[in-house]
Amino acid sequence: MKALVLSGGSGTRLRPFSYSMPKQLIPIANKPVLEHVLENVRDLGVTEVGMIVGGWAQQIEAVIGDGSRLGVRVTYIPQEQPLGLAHCVQLARPFLGDDDFVMYLGDNMLPDGVAGIAEEFATHRPDAHVVVHKVPDPRAFGVVELDSEGRVTRLVEKPREPRSDLALIGVYFFTAAVHRAVRAIRPSARGELEITDALQWMLTHGGAIRASEYDGYWKDTGRAEDVLECNRRLLEQLRPGLVGEVDRRTEIDGRVVVEEGARVVRSRIEGPTIIGAGSVVEDSHVGPGTSVGRGCVLRDTRIAESIVLDGASITSVPDLYGSLIGRNAVVGASARHRLVVGDHTRIEVAA
Ligand code: TTP
Repeated sequence: MKALVLSGGSGTRLRPFSYSMPKQLIPIANKPVLEHVLENVRDLGVTEVGMIVGGWAQQIEAVIGDGSRLGVRVTYIPQEQPLGLAHCVQLARPFLGDDDFVMYLGDNMLPDGVAGIAEEFATHRPDAHVVVHKVPDPRAFGVVELDSEGRVTRLVEKPREPRSDLALIGVYFFTAAVHRAVRAIRPSARGELEITDALQWMLTHGGAIRASEYDGYWKDTGRAEDVLECNRRLLEQLRPGLVGEVDRRTEIDGRVVVEEGARVVRSRIEGPTIIGAGSVVEDSHVGPGTSVGRGCVLRDTRIAESIVLDGASITSVPDLYGSLIGRNAVVGASARHRLVVGDHTRIEVAA
């Protein structure tokens, strides 16, 4: 089996981050979403990975390289425009050949893994095997209806009155039967070749589709709130370890990681929290639920439930909460609110 990992797209929901970086490189517990994805792929025993990349190809290649660090071999497949998930399958045909493959959205987190579902696919080898997850409000999703044997009987995209609470999530298993389907369909109203249309085409042309429920933790990291929630969740599973320097006046409480070369002075670090390599934290209270990236500086600051990306510095801010601070951003205190803010940025000041 091969893998097709989708790391293109436009990421409009994650502006302003997506103006300067691909959303698949946003760190969750100090590791890019895409690395979490590739580790899950590798855990299926799959090593040949085709990776769809758009305008951010260079940044992705700089981080992932040939994939060997993560135990996979990555072939990059450029997509000029984000023309839909089924378009990605079309583009990947030369890489995929007639092999079975798992298609994995590069911004989806399934930390509990899909190995069991991959085995079910291998046992039955239907034309397609989709992964579904129970969601409280299925109206925003592709909704799947199943018979008692786990066969898909109907697929409805964003139904107004859902007949099941099983939503399609970001992992799909396919045999080569999908290639006919992705060639047969036409773009949707939003101009994309939709994978749900390809699945529907397979169903109406007598194809067999099965579904398995993933009942672990799942998050589509498409929006800042989702990224923060997912980060909190993964931090809770962190193996604590203080490798960096922590002075005697610092109080460490709970699940805390201080990475190599980081320095924590006169501070309180409340787990679950990770302080990235080479970062400096002084006279601050960090955590819970906080990831500080590499080479950051935090001074005289109180921050919780947040992610600080590499190279950012925060000085004298007494109460930061639920924040996502970009690479090399500078956040400081002043008598008045003074903002130098890019497009589509969101700021909430304490009133
Ligand atoms: P989406 O999150 O559905 O789309 P998007 O990236 O355009 O985001 P937004 O809605 O915020 O504008 O995409 C799911 C995953 O698939 C994501 O990792 C991006 C990837 N993708 C591609 O690689 N090519 C595509 O044509 C599309 C639509 C998505």
